Amino acid sequence: MASRYIAGQVAAAGGWIGFDRFMDLALYAPGTGYYSGGARKFGAAGDFVTAPELGPAFAQTLGAQVAQLLSLSAPQIIEVGAGSGLLASDLLLELEARGMLPAGYAILELSGELRARQRQTIENHAPHLLPRVNWLDRLPERFAGLLLANEVLDAMPAHLVSWQDGAILERGIVVADGRFAWDDRPATGALLERARMLATECAIEPGYLSEIALIAPAWVGEWAAIIERGALLLIDYGFPRHEYYHPQRDAGTLMCHYRHHAHGEPFHLPGLQDITAHVDFTAIVEAGCAAGLDLLGYTTQSTFLFNCGLTEVLARTPVSDSLRYLPLASTVQKLVSPAEMGELFKVMALGKGIHEPLLGFTRGDRSASL
Ligand SMILES: C[S@@+](CC[C@H](N)C(=O)[O-])C[C@H]1O[C@@H](n2cnc3c(N)ncnc32)[C@H](O)[C@@H]1O
Repeated sequence: MASRYIAGQVAAAGGWIGFDRFMDLALYAPGTGYYSGGARKFGAAGDFVTAPELGPAFAQTLGAQVAQLLSLSAPQIIEVGAGSGLLASDLLLELEARGMLPAGYAILELSGELRARQRQTIENHAPHLLPRVNWLDRLPERFAGLLLANEVLDAMPAHLVSWQDGAILERGIVVADGRFAWDDRPATGALLERARMLATECAIEPGYLSEIALIAPAWVGEWAAIIERGALLLIDYGFPRHEYYHPQRDAGTLMCHYRHHAHGEPFHLPGLQDITAHVDFTAIVEAGCAAGLDLLGYTTQSTFLFNCGLTEVLARTPVSDSLRYLPLASTVQKLVSPAEMGELFKVMALGKGIHEPLLGFTRGDRSASL
């Protein structure tokens, strides 16, 4: 049980752990963490649905941007956190159809259970392309090509911070009467520094609670030293900083998913539910650019997909073929509707040595909002 394991880690740490550590253990503790365990996570039978799980239209449309980036850099892809493996298999099939198959498709995945599932998915959907796919145990030393991460930054552990009158506190976890309970301690180090900067920049008022992600921006910065030529394509839900730390969002963006119910209770069934925080895309671009990457584009998922030819992908299926067309139209609606994924999800490209405008950002680029 994840709860018992986490409680043991709290005791081992002297009775208190920060929320980032709790999130890390609840999601990734060996054997008992949500992503390390065997439960079905993605799709209708799981806890939440990601864009690739809705059907191949997402990967087919993304294929146009991926093909352009491969032609501008090198024919290699690394997908980070590949989930069930559907994006990998659908994208490889689309690139094959476009005559743009990469020489290699590597997957960087923390979960051994998901690695096995990814292999099985590719074997089922695109068996002839499986020999091109390999799994990495660690970040490579050098890389040229495209790094793709769909809904990965939001799954990286974040800190919880509470701004009070004259104090900035880090929210953590203790065990009291056999249950997890919140406990706030003074924030220190890099977290305190970031929290002070946000208080000034976003005029944060006492009583405000939110997350601060230190790991995700640092991870993006790490890639800057690895990428020789190419790009990171990051797709996730989130906002620029001024929207993230908006006065009205005073309880943060933390969300848990269990069997298609979204709620804000991370102590509910640790290890059996997903825990996420939205992405502060300003923090991501600052970290990437400080480490030597260029911002190549930032826009909503809806604008990005239309720029990449979503309408043409839809038109591949005749309207008269209602058995195929209707589910496809429903998928497209979920991908682009402002009430679903269209506006909340953003696409950001950061790169090195890429000097041409990218297809996905030709119209409606929102880089100036960051
Ligand atoms: C919400 S799931 C998204 C899965 C998939 N990309 C999709 O769109 O269906 C998050 C994934 O990110 C992986 N992940 C999180 N942090 C990671 C890291 N630092 N390196 C590699 N994978 C990571 C998790 O194991 C999981 O597969």
